[in-house]
Amino acid sequence: MSLVFRDLTKSYGKLVAIDAVSARFEPGLVYGVIGPNGAGKSTLINMTAGSYAVSSGTIELDGRRLDGRKKHEISLAGVSRTYQNIRLFDQMTVLENLEVCLYPLDAPRIWQEVFWPPHARRRGAERRRICEALLADFELLPHADKAAASLSYGRQRMLEIARALMRGPRVLLLDEPAAGLNHAETEDLTDRLRRLRDPERIMIVVEHDMDLVMSLCDRILVLHHGKLLFEGTPAEVQADAAVQQAYLGTHDDLDEIRAAAEDRRRQRGLGPDERPVRHHA
Ligand SMILES: Nc1ncnc2c1ncn2[C@@H]1O[C@H](COP(=O)(O)OP(=O)(O)OP(=O)(O)O)[C@@H](O)[C@H]1O
Ligand SMILES: [Mg+2]
Repeated sequence: MSLVFRDLTKSYGKLVAIDAVSARFEPGLVYGVIGPNGAGKSTLINMTAGSYAVSSGTIELDGRRLDGRKKHEISLAGVSRTYQNIRLFDQMTVLENLEVCLYPLDAPRIWQEVFWPPHARRRGAERRRICEALLADFELLPHADKAAASLSYGRQRMLEIARALMRGPRVLLLDEPAAGLNHAETEDLTDRLRRLRDPERIMIVVEHDMDLVMSLCDRILVLHHGKLLFEGTPAEVQADAAVQQAYLGTHDDLDEIRAAAEDRRRQRGLGPDERPVRHHA
């Protein structure tokens, strides 16, 4: 199994956000995608998950085309994602946020609620146990019956990742999972992500937090103005002169980038009233 981009391109009008990117992702590995703001990282995730249509080029999973398929079909093919801005059902409980994944993806909601047959419900009861096990894994079980919106920002991030795991994804796409987390939460997240490593799973993590990326990822892709500037191991990326110039600056600047990331964290993590804008799913 592998995920393959061939000459993948996305334009928004005249802006080419992703420019002929070709790459191959293998199961068992964790891939980091880095690059300055606006480099096209989220666009790459959005195309892979089917949220945005591809302008040209292809995305294949196991040799089967994903591009051009509907979002729920891509989800059924085993692709799961989290969002740069958290998207939870705020008024639903923590448990319900996972349980919504039990409904058939392609059925209208009213159909699901009225005609959900008993055998499916029984299966649902089993899956409920799966939900609770996942919540326990993410230390969210004591919060299972609270509204998602009442959770701390860090716990909401964890819930989003737990939800992305509900269908046992073969491709897990995480868009800035550490955004808004403090240092301790980021370290905790890094450990958790390490445990999600699976021989059958491709993990792709878009992230600005260099400590997380460098310590977690097996391979790193560097995007710059929509182009794939470099692909290599964390050590190779840190040593590459072009990457240094385009993104990391000199080695001295790495400290500056860390400081900037820390600032961003402080700004974002101030408290419920100063949270970044969140969209409803
Ligand atoms: N829906 C959209 N419509 C028009 N332009 C868009 C859209 N989404 C992204 N863009 C533009 O495409 C470029 C790449 O955006 P993208 O969000 O993929 O960058 P990014 O690398 O994720 O940046 P960041 O680190 O800030 O999240 C940017 O110039 C952005 O303004
Ligand atoms: Mg982004």
